[in-house]
Amino acid sequence: MRYAPGSLYLIDQRRLPHEETWLELGDAASTARAIRDMVVRGAPAIAITAAYGLALAARRGEDRAEARRLLLASRPTAVNLRWALERLDPVADADLEEAARDLHAQDVATNRAMGDRGARILPDGGIYTHCNTGALATGGWGTALGIVRSKAVWGRTIHVYVGETRPYLQGARLTTWECVKEGIACTLVTDSMAAALFATGRVGSVVVGCDRVAANGDVANKIGTLALAILARHHGLPFYVAMPLSTLDLRCPDGDHIPIEERAPSEVLGFRQERTAPAGVDAWNPAFDVTPAELVTGWITEEGAWTPG
Ligand code: MRU
Repeated sequence: MRYAPGSLYLIDQRRLPHEETWLELGDAASTARAIRDMVVRGAPAIAITAAYGLALAARRGEDRAEARRLLLASRPTAVNLRWALERLDPVADADLEEAARDLHAQDVATNRAMGDRGARILPDGGIYTHCNTGALATGGWGTALGIVRSKAVWGRTIHVYVGETRPYLQGARLTTWECVKEGIACTLVTDSMAAALFATGRVGSVVVGCDRVAANGDVANKIGTLALAILARHHGLPFYVAMPLSTLDLRCPDGDHIPIEERAPSEVLGFRQERTAPAGVDAWNPAFDVTPAELVTGWITEEGAWTPG
Protein backbone atom coordinates (compact mmCIF):
# COMPACT_ATOMS: atom_id res chain seq x y z
CA MET A 1 0.00 0.00 0.00
CA ARG A 2 1.06 3.60 -0.56
CA TYR A 3 -0.09 6.85 0.97
CA ALA A 4 0.18 10.34 -0.44
CA PRO A 5 -1.51 13.26 1.33
CA GLY A 6 -5.24 12.85 0.68
CA SER A 7 -5.00 9.50 -1.14
CA LEU A 8 -4.48 5.90 -0.07
CA TYR A 9 -3.48 3.50 -2.85
CA LEU A 10 -4.26 -0.18 -2.39
CA ILE A 11 -3.55 -3.06 -4.72
CA ASP A 12 -6.91 -4.77 -5.30
CA GLN A 13 -6.17 -8.22 -3.85
CA ARG A 14 -9.47 -9.57 -5.18
CA ARG A 15 -8.03 -9.41 -8.70
CA LEU A 16 -4.68 -11.02 -7.97
CA PRO A 17 -2.80 -12.90 -9.30
CA HIS A 18 -3.98 -12.14 -12.80
CA GLU A 19 -4.45 -8.36 -12.62
CA GLU A 20 -2.42 -5.82 -10.67
CA THR A 21 -4.94 -3.01 -10.25
CA TRP A 22 -4.47 -0.16 -7.78
CA LEU A 23 -7.44 1.60 -6.19
CA GLU A 24 -7.28 5.17 -4.91
CA LEU A 25 -9.27 5.91 -1.74
CA GLY A 26 -9.94 9.35 -0.32
CA ASP A 27 -12.25 8.98 2.68
CA ALA A 28 -13.09 6.80 5.66
CA ALA A 29 -16.21 5.20 4.18
CA SER A 30 -14.48 3.94 1.04
CA THR A 31 -11.54 2.72 3.17
CA ALA A 32 -13.90 0.80 5.47
CA ARG A 33 -15.61 -0.68 2.40
CA ALA A 34 -12.26 -1.75 0.94
CA ILE A 35 -11.47 -3.62 4.17
CA ARG A 36 -14.92 -5.23 4.38
CA ASP A 37 -14.88 -6.26 0.71
CA MET A 38 -11.35 -7.77 0.89
CA VAL A 39 -9.59 -5.31 -1.40
CA VAL A 40 -7.07 -5.45 1.42
CA ARG A 41 -6.97 -8.23 4.01
CA GLY A 42 -4.61 -9.71 6.57
CA ALA A 43 -4.66 -8.49 10.18
CA PRO A 44 -1.73 -6.03 10.12
CA ALA A 45 -2.63 -4.70 6.66
CA ILE A 46 -6.19 -3.86 7.64
CA ALA A 47 -4.93 -2.12 10.79
CA ILE A 48 -2.60 0.13 8.79
CA THR A 49 -5.30 0.73 6.19
CA ALA A 50 -7.71 1.81 8.93
CA ALA A 51 -5.07 4.17 10.34
CA TYR A 52 -4.67 5.80 6.94
CA GLY A 53 -8.48 5.86 6.62
CA LEU A 54 -8.72 7.89 9.82
CA ALA A 55 -6.05 10.26 8.50
CA LEU A 56 -8.05 10.67 5.27
CA ALA A 57 -11.16 11.46 7.31
CA ALA A 58 -9.33 14.13 9.31
CA ARG A 59 -7.94 15.72 6.15
CA ARG A 60 -11.45 15.94 4.66
CA GLY A 61 -12.95 17.31 7.87
CA GLU A 62 -15.18 14.25 8.37
CA ASP A 63 -16.71 13.46 11.75
CA ARG A 64 -13.82 11.63 13.42
CA ALA A 65 -15.92 9.53 15.80
CA GLU A 66 -18.10 8.31 12.93
CA ALA A 67 -15.05 7.54 10.77
CA ARG A 68 -13.53 5.55 13.63
CA ARG A 69 -16.79 3.65 14.15
CA LEU A 70 -17.04 2.73 10.45
CA LEU A 71 -13.43 1.56 10.28
CA LEU A 72 -13.63 -0.45 13.50
CA ALA A 73 -16.78 -2.23 12.29
CA SER A 74 -15.30 -3.19 8.92
CA ARG A 75 -14.05 -6.62 10.09
CA PRO A 76 -14.53 -8.06 13.57
CA THR A 77 -11.89 -10.75 14.22
CA ALA A 78 -8.47 -9.14 13.69
CA VAL A 79 -7.73 -7.25 16.90
CA ASN A 80 -4.98 -5.28 15.13
CA LEU A 81 -7.71 -3.02 13.79
CA ARG A 82 -8.77 -1.99 17.30
CA TRP A 83 -5.14 -1.79 18.37
CA ALA A 84 -4.29 0.68 15.60
CA LEU A 85 -7.34 2.87 16.18
CA GLU A 86 -6.70 2.98 19.93
CA ARG A 87 -3.09 3.97 19.27
CA LEU A 88 -4.40 6.92 17.25
CA ASP A 89 -7.03 8.05 19.77
CA PRO A 90 -4.73 10.52 21.57
CA VAL A 91 -3.29 11.90 18.30
CA ALA A 92 -4.48 15.32 17.12
CA ASP A 93 -6.16 15.49 13.70
CA ALA A 94 -3.26 17.42 12.24
CA ASP A 95 -0.80 14.69 13.21
CA LEU A 96 -2.79 11.64 12.06
CA GLU A 97 -1.06 11.26 8.69
CA GLU A 98 2.34 11.15 10.30
CA ALA A 99 1.11 8.76 13.00
CA ALA A 100 -0.37 6.40 10.37
CA ARG A 101 2.90 6.45 8.42
CA ASP A 102 4.75 5.64 11.66
CA LEU A 103 2.45 2.66 12.31
CA HIS A 104 3.14 1.47 8.78
CA ALA A 105 6.91 1.77 9.13
CA GLN A 106 6.78 0.16 12.56
CA ASP A 107 4.89 -2.81 11.14
CA VAL A 108 7.59 -3.44 8.54
CA ALA A 109 10.28 -3.29 11.25
CA THR A 110 8.21 -5.64 13.44
CA ASN A 111 7.92 -8.13 10.61
CA ARG A 112 11.63 -8.04 9.85
CA ALA A 113 12.46 -8.68 13.49
CA MET A 114 9.90 -11.50 13.77
CA GLY A 115 11.05 -12.97 10.48
CA ASP A 116 14.66 -13.13 11.62
CA ARG A 117 13.76 -14.59 15.00
CA GLY A 118 11.45 -17.16 13.46
CA ALA A 119 13.99 -18.11 10.82
CA ARG A 120 16.32 -19.26 13.62
CA ILE A 121 13.56 -21.32 15.24
CA LEU A 122 11.97 -23.11 12.28
CA PRO A 123 13.94 -26.01 10.81
CA ASP A 124 15.10 -25.79 7.17
CA GLY A 125 13.41 -28.02 4.61
CA GLY A 126 9.69 -28.34 4.01
CA ILE A 127 7.51 -25.69 5.65
CA TYR A 128 3.73 -25.73 5.39
CA THR A 129 1.81 -22.47 5.56
CA HIS A 130 -1.82 -21.42 5.29
CA CYS A 131 -3.65 -18.35 3.95
CA ASN A 132 -1.54 -15.31 3.03
CA THR A 133 0.69 -13.74 5.65
CA GLY A 134 3.20 -12.02 3.38
CA ALA A 135 3.78 -8.44 2.25
CA LEU A 136 0.19 -8.22 1.01
CA ALA A 137 -1.21 -9.04 4.45
CA THR A 138 1.01 -6.59 6.34
CA GLY A 139 2.79 -3.27 5.95
CA GLY A 140 5.52 -5.22 4.15
CA TRP A 141 7.67 -8.37 4.46
CA GLY A 142 5.10 -10.54 6.24
CA THR A 143 4.66 -12.49 9.46
CA ALA A 144 4.60 -16.30 8.90
CA LEU A 145 5.69 -15.77 5.30
CA GLY A 146 8.17 -13.20 6.59
CA ILE A 147 9.90 -16.01 8.48
CA VAL A 148 10.09 -17.94 5.22
CA ARG A 149 11.44 -14.83 3.46
CA SER A 150 14.13 -14.36 6.10
CA LYS A 151 15.21 -17.96 5.60
CA ALA A 152 15.23 -17.47 1.83
CA VAL A 153 17.40 -14.34 1.96
CA TRP A 154 19.82 -16.14 4.28
CA GLY A 155 20.18 -18.80 1.57
CA ARG A 156 18.69 -21.61 3.68
CA THR A 157 17.33 -24.63 1.83
CA ILE A 158 13.60 -24.43 2.15
CA HIS A 159 10.53 -25.47 0.25
CA VAL A 160 7.17 -23.91 1.06
CA TYR A 161 4.00 -25.94 0.81
CA VAL A 162 1.10 -23.55 0.38
CA GLY A 163 -2.42 -24.61 1.36
CA GLU A 164 -4.90 -23.15 -1.11
CA THR A 165 -7.12 -21.84 1.73
CA ARG A 166 -10.69 -22.51 0.78
CA PRO A 167 -12.97 -20.74 0.16
CA TYR A 168 -11.24 -17.45 -0.63
CA LEU A 169 -8.00 -18.97 -1.93
CA GLN A 170 -5.58 -16.56 -0.27
CA GLY A 171 -2.93 -19.31 -0.43
CA ALA A 172 -3.51 -20.29 -4.05
CA ARG A 173 -3.86 -16.73 -5.35
CA LEU A 174 -1.69 -14.56 -3.10
CA THR A 175 0.97 -16.59 -1.26
CA THR A 176 2.05 -18.39 -4.42
CA TRP A 177 2.14 -14.99 -6.21
CA GLU A 178 4.45 -13.61 -3.53
CA CYS A 179 6.65 -16.73 -3.56
CA VAL A 180 7.03 -16.61 -7.34
CA LYS A 181 7.96 -12.90 -7.15
CA GLU A 182 10.52 -13.61 -4.43
CA GLY A 183 11.94 -16.70 -6.13
CA ILE A 184 10.96 -18.92 -3.18
CA ALA A 185 10.40 -22.58 -4.13
CA CYS A 186 6.80 -23.50 -3.44
CA THR A 187 4.22 -26.19 -4.12
CA LEU A 188 0.50 -25.56 -3.95
CA VAL A 189 -1.81 -28.16 -2.39
CA THR A 190 -5.51 -28.13 -1.65
CA ASP A 191 -6.35 -27.97 2.06
CA SER A 192 -7.64 -31.54 1.91
CA MET A 193 -4.17 -32.77 0.83
CA ALA A 194 -2.38 -31.62 3.97
CA ALA A 195 -2.77 -34.92 5.85
CA ALA A 196 -1.45 -36.96 2.93
CA LEU A 197 1.41 -34.49 2.47
CA PHE A 198 2.38 -34.64 6.17
CA ALA A 199 2.33 -38.45 5.96
CA THR A 200 5.01 -38.35 3.21
CA GLY A 201 7.53 -36.77 5.58
CA ARG A 202 8.21 -33.87 3.21
CA VAL A 203 7.07 -31.25 5.73
CA GLY A 204 9.14 -30.52 8.86
CA SER A 205 7.08 -27.71 10.39
CA VAL A 206 3.91 -25.66 10.04
CA VAL A 207 3.80 -21.88 10.45
CA VAL A 208 0.70 -19.68 10.30
CA GLY A 209 -0.27 -16.11 11.11
CA CYS A 210 -3.05 -15.00 13.45
CA ASP A 211 -5.87 -12.50 13.71
CA ARG A 212 -6.29 -12.52 17.47
CA VAL A 213 -4.51 -14.43 20.21
CA ALA A 214 -6.26 -14.60 23.57
CA ALA A 215 -4.45 -14.23 26.89
CA ASN A 216 -4.41 -18.02 27.34
CA GLY A 217 -2.74 -18.50 23.94
CA ASP A 218 -5.77 -19.66 21.92
CA VAL A 219 -5.30 -18.54 18.32
CA ALA A 220 -7.94 -17.23 15.93
CA ASN A 221 -6.71 -17.51 12.36
CA LYS A 222 -7.99 -18.30 8.89
CA ILE A 223 -10.51 -21.13 8.72
CA GLY A 224 -8.62 -24.40 8.31
CA THR A 225 -5.88 -23.53 10.81
CA LEU A 226 -7.41 -25.71 13.53
CA ALA A 227 -7.44 -28.74 11.21
CA LEU A 228 -3.76 -28.15 10.40
CA ALA A 229 -2.84 -27.91 14.07
CA ILE A 230 -4.59 -31.21 14.79
CA LEU A 231 -2.85 -32.84 11.83
CA ALA A 232 0.51 -31.44 12.86
CA ARG A 233 0.07 -32.90 16.35
CA HIS A 234 -0.88 -36.28 14.88
CA HIS A 235 2.23 -36.31 12.68
CA GLY A 236 4.59 -34.97 15.36
CA LEU A 237 5.27 -31.71 13.50
CA PRO A 238 5.95 -28.43 15.31
CA PHE A 239 3.14 -25.90 14.82
CA TYR A 240 4.25 -22.26 15.08
CA VAL A 241 2.22 -19.06 15.15
CA ALA A 242 3.86 -15.85 13.92
CA MET A 243 2.30 -13.28 16.23
CA PRO A 244 3.08 -9.56 16.14
CA LEU A 245 2.37 -8.23 19.63
CA SER A 246 -0.38 -6.09 18.06
CA THR A 247 -2.33 -9.34 17.56
CA LEU A 248 -2.17 -10.34 21.22
CA ASP A 249 -5.41 -9.41 23.00
CA LEU A 250 -4.76 -9.64 26.71
CA ARG A 251 -8.28 -8.31 27.35
CA CYS A 252 -9.65 -11.51 25.81
CA PRO A 253 -9.33 -14.42 28.26
CA ASP A 254 -9.65 -17.32 25.80
CA GLY A 255 -10.73 -18.36 22.34
CA ASP A 256 -14.41 -18.62 23.29
CA HIS A 257 -14.43 -14.82 23.61
CA ILE A 258 -13.01 -14.10 20.15
CA PRO A 259 -15.63 -12.81 17.69
CA ILE A 260 -15.57 -14.97 14.57
CA GLU A 261 -16.58 -13.29 11.34
CA GLU A 262 -19.09 -15.15 9.20
CA ARG A 263 -18.99 -14.20 5.55
CA ALA A 264 -21.49 -14.60 2.72
CA PRO A 265 -22.49 -18.19 1.82
CA SER A 266 -21.82 -17.28 -1.83
CA GLU A 267 -18.05 -17.58 -1.17
CA VAL A 268 -18.57 -21.28 -0.44
CA LEU A 269 -21.30 -21.95 -3.00
CA GLY A 270 -19.10 -20.87 -5.90
CA PHE A 271 -15.98 -18.92 -6.82
CA ARG A 272 -16.20 -15.33 -8.02
CA GLN A 273 -19.16 -15.20 -10.41
CA GLU A 274 -19.32 -18.95 -11.03
CA ARG A 275 -21.72 -21.00 -8.91
CA THR A 276 -20.53 -24.55 -8.20
CA ALA A 277 -23.28 -25.78 -5.85
CA PRO A 278 -26.81 -26.40 -7.05
CA ALA A 279 -29.57 -23.89 -6.38
CA GLY A 280 -31.32 -24.40 -3.05
CA VAL A 281 -28.15 -25.39 -1.12
CA ASP A 282 -27.13 -23.33 1.88
CA ALA A 283 -23.55 -22.90 3.17
CA TRP A 284 -21.80 -22.00 6.43
CA ASN A 285 -18.86 -19.67 6.00
CA PRO A 286 -16.91 -18.83 9.16
CA ALA A 287 -13.82 -16.89 8.05
CA PHE A 288 -11.73 -17.97 11.05
CA ASP A 289 -11.39 -20.78 13.57
CA VAL A 290 -9.80 -21.05 16.99
CA THR A 291 -6.82 -23.30 17.65
CA PRO A 292 -6.44 -24.17 21.35
CA ALA A 293 -3.15 -23.12 22.89
CA GLU A 294 -2.29 -26.75 23.73
CA LEU A 295 -1.79 -27.46 20.01
CA VAL A 296 0.67 -24.58 19.52
CA THR A 297 4.39 -25.34 19.76
CA GLY A 298 5.42 -21.68 19.88
CA TRP A 299 4.19 -18.12 19.45
CA ILE A 300 6.93 -16.14 17.67
CA THR A 301 6.83 -12.36 18.15
CA GLU A 302 9.09 -9.47 17.16
CA GLU A 303 10.55 -9.66 20.67
CA GLY A 304 11.09 -13.42 20.70
CA ALA A 305 9.02 -16.35 21.93
CA TRP A 306 5.88 -15.52 23.96
CA THR A 307 4.25 -17.86 26.41
CA PRO A 308 0.74 -17.49 27.82
CA GLY A 309 0.40 -16.03 31.33
O1 MRU B 1 -9.61 -13.16 5.80
P1 MRU B 1 -8.19 -12.72 5.71
O2 MRU B 1 -7.56 -12.99 4.39
O3 MRU B 1 -8.02 -11.30 6.17
O4 MRU B 1 -7.44 -13.64 6.77
C1 MRU B 1 -6.06 -13.45 6.97
C2 MRU B 1 -5.48 -14.41 7.93
O5 MRU B 1 -6.15 -15.24 8.49
C3 MRU B 1 -4.02 -14.27 8.23
O6 MRU B 1 -3.46 -15.51 8.56
C4 MRU B 1 -3.81 -13.31 9.40
O7 MRU B 1 -4.54 -12.13 9.21
C5 MRU B 1 -2.40 -12.99 9.61
S1 MRU B 1 -1.79 -11.96 8.30
C6 MRU B 1 -0.19 -11.58 8.64
